[in-house]
Amino acid sequence: MKQKRKTILITGGSEGIGAQFAEAFSKEGHNLILVARNYIKLNEVKVRLENQYHNRIRIISFDLSKEGSAQKLYDEINEIKIDILINNAGFGMVGESWKQSIEKDERMVQLNISSMMSLMKLILKDMIERDEGIIVNVGSLGGFQPGPYIATYYATKSFVLQYTKAVAKEIKHTSVRIHCLAPGPVRTSFHTKANDYISRFSISTERCVKYTLDYLGTRKVVLIPGFIMRLSLFLPEGIRMYFIEKQKKKAL
Ligand SMILES: NC(=O)c1ccc[n+]([C@@H]2O[C@H](COP(=O)([O-])OP(=O)(O)OC[C@H]3O[C@@H](n4cnc5c(N)ncnc54)[C@H](OP(=O)(O)O)[C@@H]3O)[C@@H](O)[C@H]2O)c1
Repeated sequence: MKQKRKTILITGGSEGIGAQFAEAFSKEGHNLILVARNYIKLNEVKVRLENQYHNRIRIISFDLSKEGSAQKLYDEINEIKIDILINNAGFGMVGESWKQSIEKDERMVQLNISSMMSLMKLILKDMIERDEGIIVNVGSLGGFQPGPYIATYYATKSFVLQYTKAVAKEIKHTSVRIHCLAPGPVRTSFHTKANDYISRFSISTERCVKYTLDYLGTRKVVLIPGFIMRLSLFLPEGIRMYFIEKQKKKAL
């Protein structure tokens, strides 16, 4: 390993894209703090990676969909210098918006927007003071247009995209770098939980994370893994919405 050992905070580090980030950073010998609700799954990742890569992993079982949770988490890890934040925990839900549970939508907004934003602000302040650090906010390709039958989720990811782009401009004179990872479909259990089905254009978590790591710490703010996904953004918004509506209706 050529790089200095870093400490990386990954929210949603127990499975899917977050666990893949954990694997990739462990391989490079870095120490990790993994946050998710399910302690057993977190512990499985910790034991597997520590045994394989001999790094140090702290796990924190924590629900980031509760009001004030980002500040509580920050207070718990306050004494630790975070070199990289992977702000990744999130979930989505397919269905007719008026039928979706308000409680679930509010939890989604709290997790995907409020906790993401607050955790970023708290850690970014420290990074700006030190003039070093990297933040990856995990958005989605869904954040580029409205999503019929997945409206709340796509809207939360629009926030992630626009917010990250704005903050990236504000901090461009510093050495801190911030990215919005905006993948199209990635093969994780996200889709089953969201009552969605997995697209045939989906990519692996390995490919998603490798693409991100290739650009980590560069000035490229928006990271979209997969040529087809990047190409799809050249279609007019109405056409993209038509395909999303058609696809999501199939999952109803
Ligand atoms: N998979 C895709 O196609 C795709 C595409 C674009 C963007 N994304 C985004 O990528 C991120 C990761 O998704 P994924 O596909 O890896 O999903 P996943 O496999 O379902 O993993 C989600 C992670 O977030 C954690 N999490 C969920 N709710 C939480 C809460 N309330 N508090 C703390 N942690 C919580 C989960 O652990 P616990 O359940 O134990 O808490 C898990 O570790 C999400 O932000 C998602 O929106 C995914």
